[in-house]
Amino acid sequence: MEAVGSLSTVALPSLITAHFSKPIFTIPFTHKKSNLTRFPKAKLNKFNAISPSISTQPEATETETGNLDHEEEKFDWFSHWYPLMPVCDLDKRAPHGMKVLGLDVVVWWDKNENTWKVFDDRCPHRLAPLSEGRIDQWGRLQCVYHGWCFNGWGDCKLIPQAPLDGPPVHSFPKACVAVYPSTVQNRIVWFWPNTDLQYKDILTKKKPSYIPELDDPSFFGTTFITRDITYGAGTTRNRLAVF
Ligand code: FES
Repeated sequence: MEAVGSLSTVALPSLITAHFSKPIFTIPFTHKKSNLTRFPKAKLNKFNAISPSISTQPEATETETGNLDHEEEKFDWFSHWYPLMPVCDLDKRAPHGMKVLGLDVVVWWDKNENTWKVFDDRCPHRLAPLSEGRIDQWGRLQCVYHGWCFNGWGDCKLIPQAPLDGPPVHSFPKACVAVYPSTVQNRIVWFWPNTDLQYKDILTKKKPSYIPELDDPSFFGTTFITRDITYGAGTTRNRLAVF
């Protein structure tokens, strides 16, 4: 009876499983095969004598070991969607700079396309951070240094110093900003961390993971709280696992 009484303050595992039927966040990681089969046979036998639960599989041959290296699953960190920021934390009147996966990006509201855009945070002119610029009266992202203006597709639409009767500057690729694929889901801005043109329409082929609980007010309420964590992904994963 005492044991039952002490358990009554703890949620039953079945209830937890039902409530969190889907993981809230999944953090991908590189999966490597166990090194146990590469353990020298002599040491393995010695180890087995005191640890019968260890696998007694025969030692892998050199050829097999080589194959194992090739079988390691490679995770491409730059071929996935990543959440950037909850929409409620973004101001449509100003560009927002942030660093994700070591990439400096700028998020800004494109009122002409009526959507959030994610650009490389470097002006193609002198590499000044566009996040220190502003949104001009025509809804373009304007660099603060020499005033170049860019539309939502990264095209340069204005170089204030260029002669009016000169060539159309926006058609020159080196005058354009690299644009990351982006979308809004679960009231969060997501981006695909690769500006290569082959990923331009990636959203039509692959979407960010949908998290229904984030759109359920009874589950999370309506408030997002974000924190910058100055850890690598591995350490962060371990910390989240504790919770
Ligand atoms: S550095 Fe941006 S306009 Fe010159």
